Amino acid sequence: MRSRLAVQSPAAAIILGSGLGGLAERIGGAVRIPYRDIPGFAEPSVVGHAGELIHGTLGGREVLALAGRFHMYEGHEAGHSAFPVRVVQALGARTLLLSNAAGGIRRTFAPGQLMVVADHLNLMFRNPLIGAAVSGDERFPDMSDPYDPALRRQLHDVARTLGIRLEEGVYAGLLGPSYETPAEVRMLERLGADAVGMSTVPEVIVARAMGMRCAAVSCITNPAAGISPHHINHEEVIEVTRHAAADFERLIEELVRSL
Ligand code: HPA
Repeated sequence: MRSRLAVQSPAAAIILGSGLGGLAERIGGAVRIPYRDIPGFAEPSVVGHAGELIHGTLGGREVLALAGRFHMYEGHEAGHSAFPVRVVQALGARTLLLSNAAGGIRRTFAPGQLMVVADHLNLMFRNPLIGAAVSGDERFPDMSDPYDPALRRQLHDVARTLGIRLEEGVYAGLLGPSYETPAEVRMLERLGADAVGMSTVPEVIVARAMGMRCAAVSCITNPAAGISPHHINHEEVIEVTRHAAADFERLIEELVRSL
């Protein structure tokens, strides 16, 4: 059965990262469209990703949510990985809130720590804008402020009010799907990264090319390779995000309310 969306003027579109899909349960009057019913969308193949575009209200505001994303490690080109951002923009979203699970490089990050992304390193070595210019896109988008300073301030204000500990740092986006080696993590640390993950960067580049305001929150699920003696596995990543999810959900809900 095909569903219809009656989208008016969404306050934000929210991309829910691995294990952070629980926010979708807070969306009131939700209409859910399975990705398989959306032309150009693929079925997510990763545990922890639902695969639905959701429309409803959060924090009293109209929102769109993407529960599940297309990672490049699943074989998607960078442009395809960011395609859902084009869809929510076409539906009227002008603010994009992203979330992801990430390994912690900064030594003081404990599992469960939430981090506002201040900036990123595109170490995927792919750019989703390569190819013929898409009508309406900036051909050479400025990336001086990929993560909107005012939204970042708002996130910190909301976190303070809610009593949520929120750090800020640089996210390094790598292709994956293998986790990093300890030598790679040492390299990333020297390059200025505070966290490392496998998503977000292509989506933010496309969003900026379309003039959307972006903010991203990383859930630090584990110390990156070599920082702790423990090995990393995806189940643990999902488990930690589930624990941190309550704070993440409150943070995003209150941010949306304040937009
Ligand atoms: N590395 C890359 N991506 C991740 C990690 C990590 O350690 N943890 C969660 N996502």
